[in-house]
Amino acid sequence: MANNHSELIGITTAFVQQELAEAEGGHDWWHIYRVWQQARHIAAEENVDLVVVELAALLHDIADPKFHGGDESIGPAKAAAFMRAQAVPEETAWHVENIIRYMSFKNALEKRVFYSPEMGVVQDADRLDAMGAIGIARAFNYGGFKNRALYDPAVAPNLQMSKEEYKHSSAPTINHFYEKLLLLKDMMNTATGRRLAAERHAYMETYLERFYKEWEGEW
Ligand code: ADP
Ligand code: NI
Repeated sequence: MANNHSELIGITTAFVQQELAEAEGGHDWWHIYRVWQQARHIAAEENVDLVVVELAALLHDIADPKFHGGDESIGPAKAAAFMRAQAVPEETAWHVENIIRYMSFKNALEKRVFYSPEMGVVQDADRLDAMGAIGIARAFNYGGFKNRALYDPAVAPNLQMSKEEYKHSSAPTINHFYEKLLLLKDMMNTATGRRLAAERHAYMETYLERFYKEWEGEW
């Protein structure tokens, strides 16, 4: 059991690293590490409970439903059991569990069943990791894992796909930028998140311009 903030965070990082030892590239420990660091930076500008932010950032992806038969309850339940074992105060644990449960992209599109400033910070940090240089790397890494083409000029992006269709789509990775990544900048919760997202967005746009230019043979 942890006696103070830094001890609890230390125990939590060790737990998460162990849980994610076999995780795929998009949601490995280093994704968690980046989201955690980014969340700490954003939290410094916001009036939020830092323990809640750090625990939620560290525990937000310990069981990706994509690899657990679509079961979305495993991650929050695992996180809750861990926090209980560490005697994290009930109110903190409840808050963190709810953040993890309601944070994913699709829930944001639906009615906000749960929201807190702490959740806003962690969600911004998670979304930032899908943008910019890292976001580009993650997208192509995912596309490679799914054996998708980089780009196909004949396949236009489709913004109307249902969640299920999207999962089984074999669309090229470039389409993902229009279907998701370029939409993220308008979904940020915090002022700091918006500023960082604007920068990463501009970087992705520059990248895409370059990509199309090189595709046709630069001169
Ligand atoms: P999150 O963990 O943020 O909910 P996902 O699990 O959907 O996101 O995706 C993890 C990473 O893989 C993100 O960087 C995302 O952009 C990327 N990714 C997800 N779906 C696709 C796709 N169809 N094509 C390319 N990249 C994708
Ligand atoms: Ni994540």
